[in-house]
Amino acid sequence: MTDKNPSIHGQWSSRFAFILAATGSAVGLGNIWKFPYITGENGGGAFVVVYLLCIAALGIPIMIAEIMLGRRGRQSPINSMRSLSEEAGVDPRWHYVGWAGMIAGFLILAYYSVIAGWSMAYIVKAFFGSFINSDAEEIQRLFENLMASPVQQIFWHTAFMIITMQLVMRGVQGGLEKAVRFLMPTLFVILILLVGYAMSTGAYEQGMHFLFSPDFSKIDADAVLTAMGHAFFTLSLGMGAIMAYGSYLPNHVSIVKTTFFIAGADTVVALLAGIAIFPLVFANNLEASAGPGLIFQTLPLAFGHMSGGWLFGLLFFILLFFAALSSSISLIEPAVAWLAENKNVERHQACVWSGTACWALGVGVVFSFNIWSDIKLFDKNLFELLDYLTANLMLPLGGLAIAVFAGWMMKIQHAEQELELPAEGFQAWQFLIKYVSPAAVFLVFLHVLGVL
Ligand code: PHE
Repeated sequence: MTDKNPSIHGQWSSRFAFILAATGSAVGLGNIWKFPYITGENGGGAFVVVYLLCIAALGIPIMIAEIMLGRRGRQSPINSMRSLSEEAGVDPRWHYVGWAGMIAGFLILAYYSVIAGWSMAYIVKAFFGSFINSDAEEIQRLFENLMASPVQQIFWHTAFMIITMQLVMRGVQGGLEKAVRFLMPTLFVILILLVGYAMSTGAYEQGMHFLFSPDFSKIDADAVLTAMGHAFFTLSLGMGAIMAYGSYLPNHVSIVKTTFFIAGADTVVALLAGIAIFPLVFANNLEASAGPGLIFQTLPLAFGHMSGGWLFGLLFFILLFFAALSSSISLIEPAVAWLAENKNVERHQACVWSGTACWALGVGVVFSFNIWSDIKLFDKNLFELLDYLTANLMLPLGGLAIAVFAGWMMKIQHAEQELELPAEGFQAWQFLIKYVSPAAVFLVFLHVLGVL
């Protein structure tokens, strides 16, 4: 089947290709690195419950909306939002949503690349057997040494950025489509193996208890905001990544089914990562609230002691690197697509410009883990500031704007036409996107501001 209006950047070869790319975008450091450490920092079970509620009430309806807007707009998020507002007869300034998203993606990639660089450094450590028979203290020292070295971190950050840009240059059907096809299932298998190891540590129940028995006295407004922000972050929502990918989606594909698959896979991976990590934390008397280093200080312990640990450790960090890579390319895609559409620059040049600027900011992020760790604004170093600004503020606000646009601005017939749902299904989505999602984001913000 041919499409009347494919994007100028190309189109996914099939529904499966889109699912892979979008799942690749969603499943990344957010699931394996960030979810466990923010869960640890925010006391466990209650945080997980709020996060799951946000995935259901906000993530799923907004992902449907974002894919839909992208596919109907067929351009970079900025230009899609502009032409969709024209079509809907509303203020063209809605295209600023695309701008905000592009900037958010850029800011996220700056630190995302640094963390992905850590996973590359750990591939080498795993290869040279650095974890074998090490105790918790030695593993911790390994991580602290990496943190203390700007040179090593900049090296890996640079390597990661170059690889990302190489892939983005090749466009939507480049090598990644093929790579992700095989990597995602393998990552899944390794996580299951790690869960198996966690079961043997003697602290499995304690870990499960921490993750799944909610104690709501442990969370405050800021934890709720973090959980909500993470729901957007982990599903790649609120900044146009999924919108950009949606713009390469052929017309006949079911947006709703695809969304359920992506959100389901993403959630399962995050929970498996949590189940694999927390028993290790408790079995080794580590701090659940250790922060961004949590997975790097726990999982190597498992690899150092389980049979076949050398191989699994190596595989795990290679897969983590690929999971990060399939997310990072989507973080920069809105900017590259927009540059290529508007500034009349070649795709590869657009990549070089945006990649270099992002890299430079990333160097600042590296310093925030060592020589600049004392430089703080609102009590946060540069890494923490970028993370808070993007995940907790920009993505939920972007998601709110997308929900309001899809629910209130766009013509209902157009949404119906795109989603092709049975009447009850469509009504359910409409109710969520018009009322539930905007109200939830709004209430959480009021709560954080202390108004509620
Ligand atoms: N979803 C990705 C992850 O969990 C991160 C991401 C956020 C990617 C926003 C694209 C857009 O790692």
